[in-house]
Amino acid sequence: MTSSPALQPSLWYKDAIIYQVHIKSFCDSNDDGYGDIKGLISKLDYIQSLGVTAIWVMPFFDSPLQDDGYDIADYYKVNPNYGDIEDVRELVREAHARGLKIIMEMVINHTSDQHPWFQRAIKAPAGSSERNFYVWSDDNKKYDGVRIIFLDTEESNWTWHPEVEQYYWHRFFHHQPDLNFENPAVEKAIYEVIDYWASMGVDGFRLDAIPYLFEEEGTTCENLAPTHAFLKRLRKYVDEKFHGEICLLAEANMMPADSAGYFGDGDECHMNYHFPLMPRLYMGVAKEDRTEIVEVLKRTPEIPENCQWATFLRNHDELTLEMVTPEERQWMWNHYCYVPEAKQNMGIRLRLARLMDGSYRKMHLMNTMLFTMPGTPVIYYGDEIGMGDNVYLNDRDGVRTPMQWSPENNAGFSHATPQQLYLPVISDPEFHYETVNVQVQENRSRSMLHWMRRMIEIRKSYQCFGRGEMIMLEPEEKNILAYVRRYEDEVVLVVCNLSGRATSLCLPLESYEGYKAREILGGENFHDIEESYRLTITGWGTYLIEITKRANLNK
Ligand code: BGC
Repeated sequence: MTSSPALQPSLWYKDAIIYQVHIKSFCDSNDDGYGDIKGLISKLDYIQSLGVTAIWVMPFFDSPLQDDGYDIADYYKVNPNYGDIEDVRELVREAHARGLKIIMEMVINHTSDQHPWFQRAIKAPAGSSERNFYVWSDDNKKYDGVRIIFLDTEESNWTWHPEVEQYYWHRFFHHQPDLNFENPAVEKAIYEVIDYWASMGVDGFRLDAIPYLFEEEGTTCENLAPTHAFLKRLRKYVDEKFHGEICLLAEANMMPADSAGYFGDGDECHMNYHFPLMPRLYMGVAKEDRTEIVEVLKRTPEIPENCQWATFLRNHDELTLEMVTPEERQWMWNHYCYVPEAKQNMGIRLRLARLMDGSYRKMHLMNTMLFTMPGTPVIYYGDEIGMGDNVYLNDRDGVRTPMQWSPENNAGFSHATPQQLYLPVISDPEFHYETVNVQVQENRSRSMLHWMRRMIEIRKSYQCFGRGEMIMLEPEEKNILAYVRRYEDEVVLVVCNLSGRATSLCLPLESYEGYKAREILGGENFHDIEESYRLTITGWGTYLIEITKRANLNK
């Protein structure tokens, strides 16, 4: 990349903390039962109060909503349920005024079959560029063996179109035809879309389903060279046009080596989710054993200086188990699916709080790992208060229910009649909105919400979490996950007890012998570091210990 100062990216995403929101789920300003952009704007102060630095806004485009907006019918229009373009402009302005960046969803692998491009394609002559906006075939044997992602609902990646008398290709739902990136007109059209939104001032794009852009016979049709070549072109395009200020976040659910491929040489995506780490954090806690977590981190390659992993515990989809072995997957289903309905596709459709049995201690433990491991943490809305879920709702709707603001009607989300809500609020006794909500937790100093704020504040006070190296310590006790994060002269020791058993342990810390130690959350000074550092830790307990040479412990 050029060294012109205008093109020096600010790397803000390396120190960011991202909050994921769905507009329809956050706050309903006009009482129609759907959350909307104005509602989200009215809650920006709350988001800012969490201490997060960026918001990932899920798709808000015009859409038939058969895949919750991931089925785009018009890249230039806002779904009228959510508001209009002026509202988006205001959202960007208001977010920026609070120091919050906006990362918006950008689904380019496919569109809705209602998109005018698809409607035009089915009418266009065979062989024309318009027809070839999508991928067609006379038979459904082409690219045979390519895996089906939505196993619960789809039988094939091909669907017959009676009007065209050909099959069209789709990696997701059959109503989401894949765009044909072999066609240069598609690439051009996508650049125009990116231009439009980036010019409005958004700070980044989450590139949905990015490994699947190209197809090639005899391959898995995933992570192909032309996909990487396209991403390099896209990156160059946005860097030049938007002065290196636009961040691209890849959604590539792959093993670490393939995943790291989406960073290129620092010239593809700035960020990519660490999908393989996520299920192993849950496995570690369930098995009370750090082995798989350590192993996946060891297998994670070094990434270019200007890149960053995005780490997460939960999101709007099922907790995907695609990146674990079939035996591990079965084990996870047995352990975590408290009812059969919790299993979905290759995953589990439950929220963090349910997976952690509603235990604050276990939620703290999971979040401590999230906030202290390499990468930028992404928090799923509602997880900061330990919101519950509802497996009896359709598809992934059970983890997309209205945000719980207060014990009032509809959890304070909307004044519509309860039957009018896009989804019912959570009302099971364990996670009822009357107890699990922002208002109640604001008033309780020991609440999950206050703990999250404190954790976010700590995360922001130490650059070692976003930028530093990680040195894994491997004490004898397998239930203990311990590591040092180090950046310049900042050193933080993290100790996590993955089990419910109080444990006494010894950490090999010879290189810090004689240094001072202070537990960050509680602010207590611990005994100085010895060659072998002895600690006791309560069940599911965690320590964040700042290690300093001199008595410079006032952070
Ligand atoms: C999104 C899903 C969506 C799928 C198809 C994903 O990776 O996260 O929610 O259903 O893409 O667009």
